[in-house]
Amino acid sequence: MNEKIRRRYRSFLPWLLGLTLITILVLSAIVLSRRAVLAAPEQPIAFSHELHDDAGVQCLYCHPSALRSEIAGIPSVEKCIGCHRTIVNDRDEVQVLFGFWERGEPIPWEEVVRMADYVYFSHQPHLLSGVNCETCHGNVSEMTVASPAIEMDMGWCLECHYDQPEEKVARLADCLACHK
Ligand code: HEC
Ligand code: HEC
Ligand code: HEC
Ligand code: HEC
Ligand code: HEC
Repeated sequence: MNEKIRRRYRSFLPWLLGLTLITILVLSAIVLSRRAVLAAPEQPIAFSHELHDDAGVQCLYCHPSALRSEIAGIPSVEKCIGCHRTIVNDRDEVQVLFGFWERGEPIPWEEVVRMADYVYFSHQPHLLSGVNCETCHGNVSEMTVASPAIEMDMGWCLECHYDQPEEKVARLADCLACHK
């Protein structure tokens, strides 16, 4: 390298390093924030979907409102006790469950998948059209801790809505369908 080029290169080097650093920071911020969105919250009882699925309990047994309303619903303490009064009632985590029952307290479950307030969503039309829980929530039956498996953003909702029979697309892609 001749002297002139070398000098130019030297003065350019800090800029290059700075730019690389900024790019790395921005990229890691994006990756970390996506992780945060898709992370599983800690729950007051170590409830395992996998164990209950293996025991043959159906999604709709615990989340029956999904068929008839906007929300799927989280089962009440009473529903858990209905089985656990007699089933594996000697296990530690089931003692924690009994604690809530005896104090008459609801279990303060942390939300796992929630839309922003300005989004309208209802389970009923989806279940009546035969869309499976797994299509939107991933493989919950293999989760020991419920976690958001799929990033449910607007593009994702619309992709499936555009895929519906032609005569329905205008209604399903209307902004007001999901932003009332
Ligand atoms: C024995 C009852 C039971 C069964 C069966 C069950 N669930 Fe759940 N589900 C719960 C409870 C309790 C919670 C709240 C605690 C948690 O998030 O782990 C929950 C949470 C969830 C959540 C996250 C809710 C939120 O707050 O965002 C989803 C999604 C879900 N269940 C889907 C399913 C699917 C799909 C199935 C079938 C494969 C299923 N569940 C079967 C009891 C059950
Ligand atoms: C078309 C996609 C889709 C399908 C199919 C679907 N869900 Fe959901 N589910 C969602 C979305 C989106 C939310 C967040 C709703 C909100 O915050 O308004 C949600 C929230 C939930 C919640 C927590 C809030 C609530 O409504 O109680 C549970 C529990 C749940 N779903 C269970 C189920 C189960 C069980 C099934 C199958 C029987 C199912 N979902 C099918 C998209 C879906
Ligand atoms: C339809 C019956 C039924 C219902 C309803 C039910 N469970 Fe269970 N649960 C079982 C069975 C069966 C097992 C044992 C699974 C195994 O270990 O084989 C179990 C196991 C457990 C365990 C022990 C896990 C471990 O580490 O050994 C906990 C904790 C638990 N359930 C919590 C709950 C909670 C909380 C609810 C209510 C949201 C609930 N269950 C509702 C049937 C039920
Ligand atoms: C896998 C496909 C699929 C996904 C993903 C999906 N939907 Fe749907 N959606 C449907 C189907 C099918 C219908 C019912 C169509 C009909 O009425 O025949 C529907 C209906 C609706 C309706 C009722 C519209 C009306 O006016 O009747 C709303 C609201 C809605 N979806 C919101 C959402 C939102 C919000 C999301 C994303 C969080 C979403 N959907 C994701 C397939 C999907
Ligand atoms: C099928 C449902 C659906 C339809 C139809 C829909 N949206 Fe959305 N929209 C969503 C969801 C879900 C979010 C939340 C995205 C998130 O949280 O990542 C959203 C978010 C937004 C936001 C917030 C900014 C953002 O991108 O996060 C704006 C603005 C918006 N939508 C405008 C519109 C407009 C304008 C239309 C009509 C052209 C429309 N939406 C149609 C589901 C829908």
